[in-house]
Amino acid sequence: MSVRRLAPKELQPASFTFSADNLKWAQAQIEKYPPGRQQSAVIPILWRVQEQHQGWVSEAAIRAVADLLGMAYIRVLEIATFYTMFQLQPVGKKAHVQVCGTTPCMLRGANDLIDICKHRIHHDQFHLSDDGDFSWEEVECAGTCVNAPMVQIWSDTYEDLTPDTFNKVLDGFASGNPPKPGPQNGRQFSAPVGGPTTLKGEKA
Ligand code: FES
Repeated sequence: MSVRRLAPKELQPASFTFSADNLKWAQAQIEKYPPGRQQSAVIPILWRVQEQHQGWVSEAAIRAVADLLGMAYIRVLEIATFYTMFQLQPVGKKAHVQVCGTTPCMLRGANDLIDICKHRIHHDQFHLSDDGDFSWEEVECAGTCVNAPMVQIWSDTYEDLTPDTFNKVLDGFASGNPPKPGPQNGRQFSAPVGGPTTLKGEKA
């Protein structure tokens, strides 16, 4: 388990302001809960904040969420630093690549994908590439083991990867034209590669 700390001061913006749309959305989340229980909306609101703030959560944003929900700053800080879904430092502008390194993906070649990240992005996870466009991290199972190995980029997953197809995925994000999410070997969802293999006989 890595130590999760806020980004250093020099990377922290001075302030965070909810966009009008996001503030309206946050208010709607708060209204889902009974009076006095508005704190229950903290995780979805932090998530929306992360989306608004180029994929990461700043200290100023944590304070803004706490102020909105009437929470102590330390409580929101605890949540943001506990859940690894929240990024605490700047991530790549074009893609933050989350490579699953859990057993099924590892057995199916995740280490090759990690090597590509190390060479194309940065040797160490959570560091930006030289142009600031990419970053990467190794994550635990993302729930698409049947299509291992896989990576998640923003809200989408790219599955059934090989070094070649993973490079193509990264090329797509670099050029602003990402490939269609899902299996990258042509199969449909988690159906057998090459089509059906069972229940092909004639009806009884
Ligand atoms: S082990 Fe990689 S998605 Fe489950």
